[in-house]
Amino acid sequence: MTKKIVLDVLKGEAVFPPPIWMMRQAGRYLPEYQASRKTAGGFLDLCYNPDFAVEVTLQPIRRFGFDASILFSDILVVPHALGRDLRFEEGRGPLMTPIRRDEVSALDTSRFHEHLSPVYETVRRLRRELPAETTLLGFCGAPWTVVTYMIAGHGTPDQAPARLFGYSNPEAMDELLETLADCSADYLIRQIEAGADAVQIFDSWSGVLDEASFERYCITPVARIVKNIRAKYPDAPIIGFPKGAGQLYDTYRQKTGVTALGLDWTVPWSQARSLQAEGAVQGNLDPMRLVAGGKALDEGVNAILKELGAGPLIFNLGHGITPQTPIAHVERMIELVRSASR
Ligand code: CP3
Repeated sequence: MTKKIVLDVLKGEAVFPPPIWMMRQAGRYLPEYQASRKTAGGFLDLCYNPDFAVEVTLQPIRRFGFDASILFSDILVVPHALGRDLRFEEGRGPLMTPIRRDEVSALDTSRFHEHLSPVYETVRRLRRELPAETTLLGFCGAPWTVVTYMIAGHGTPDQAPARLFGYSNPEAMDELLETLADCSADYLIRQIEAGADAVQIFDSWSGVLDEASFERYCITPVARIVKNIRAKYPDAPIIGFPKGAGQLYDTYRQKTGVTALGLDWTVPWSQARSLQAEGAVQGNLDPMRLVAGGKALDEGVNAILKELGAGPLIFNLGHGITPQTPIAHVERMIELVRSASR
């Protein structure tokens, strides 16, 4: 059987050169993605049509031969499947009707899996179409990051509306996070059953919370997701990505039980190495180094290889690739990583 090196690293093996993939690797920096999006109609049409979703998932694999492929979808299909409205407007990102406190108990779980069945079909087809050595990653948003959009109705710079909602309506907030945690765990279990080798939980907005709120909104729901998945699949590899968690990365690692940690680019090497002693880490190139290219890119890549290359590492960005990134810079990054020697 062909080896999936991402899975070896997730088991704690140090592989050098490390495997590589990029968050948001299917996206607007690729002309072939732009073309598919235009044909599909809108972004959600891409997500819910397995023909398109499979095609755009495979685009970066064909072009770059990454070691992992991440299902093409969005974190907000989960609240959409619970009956909340969702739109994506060009240049504006996601738009939702803000959820009110009294609507939390009325979230409708009855059509959840039916709504998401095209996603499961996409995973099944990807399983068949991907090269045998390519790891297939499923994903969901962490409950906290998902609720920030459900509450504000759109992206905000600091998630003030969701923080305020939590302080003003602690019980409704807990209930909302718990519902999302249970649904998200079921969603990831279905992705695993459809053929995902590992899953990633994106908590892009972990970095805006005080310590007590981080514990309650980030750690508790993610620990619940991990526990629910492990009750069924004890060995399922789970990557947690609490972006911006800073010093709280350590307690997140201990209390959630995730297999591996996604690191953003602000994590110091000393902390990254001590986290790596407990399990694999993934990251953590500043996406702006990839936009800049040249010396900034080479130095950033080489620093990660030097500082984290001796332990279990999955090379990645510290957050998603941005649309203005030149493709030649992605090629340069891959070449640097794959030609590295200790
Ligand atoms: O990584 C991949 O290639 C898989 C697909 C993927 C998308 N979104 C596709 C997407 C994944 C894993 C996500 C996760 C996601 N979605 C997160 C967490 C990770 C992160 O980047 O912080 C969040 C917060 C969202 C919500 C979301 N979706 C926002 C805020 C936006 C607008 C910003 C933007 O980049 O446009 C989206 C839209 C989105 N999701 C696009 C893509 C390819 C762009 C849509 C388009 O084609 O216009």
